[in-house]
Amino acid sequence: MEYMLDKDVERVLFSEEELRERVAQIAAQIDADYAGKEPLLVSVLRGSFVFMADLVRQIHVPCTVDFMAVSSYGKGASSSGQVKIIKDLSEQIEGKDLIVVEDILDSGNTLSYLLQLLQARKPASVRLCTLLDKPSRRVKEVEVNYSGFSIPDYFVVGYGLDYAEKYRNLPYIGVLKPSIYGG
Ligand code: PRP
Repeated sequence: MEYMLDKDVERVLFSEEELRERVAQIAAQIDADYAGKEPLLVSVLRGSFVFMADLVRQIHVPCTVDFMAVSSYGKGASSSGQVKIIKDLSEQIEGKDLIVVEDILDSGNTLSYLLQLLQARKPASVRLCTLLDKPSRRVKEVEVNYSGFSIPDYFVVGYGLDYAEKYRNLPYIGVLKPSIYGG
């Protein structure tokens, strides 16, 4: 660790090396599942941008990318269930094979809403790929097709994940010190 924000991190949960290995494994699974196809990877901003960038470079089948930004109303450390589209996709998705790429699946509120919205646009298929999953936090059931790591309810930052918009640039995933978020 050698970043100024390292001091706020209690411990490293997944190192750069561990993340690289797991991302490569997920990409290999996607390559196998989408042989002969051309998936469209949809990154849900902002948290997923780092995972998306690493994942897409490990995928060897032809693929395209698009981005969506959503936000939950009244969001503190967890999401409330209401979702607002801040930025919609740039492309039509009808008939396409979508892979929605997320950094973390928590209550499932964001994703269940988003997946419904995307399904209504009649893609050929939609699968969900999340780097982190906190199953203990689930409120809405969401089918996960590719999952990097299942974790307990830790407050995690880094590798795209933020606390108050900071820490996204840390190259590892760490557990934030409770003193930082007042836990
Ligand atoms: C995170 C994450 C998901 C959502 C998951 O985004 O990227 O979109 O929360 O939570 P849920 O399962 O409880 O709905 P966040 O709202 O923190 O925005 P960000 O990606 O811009 O950091």
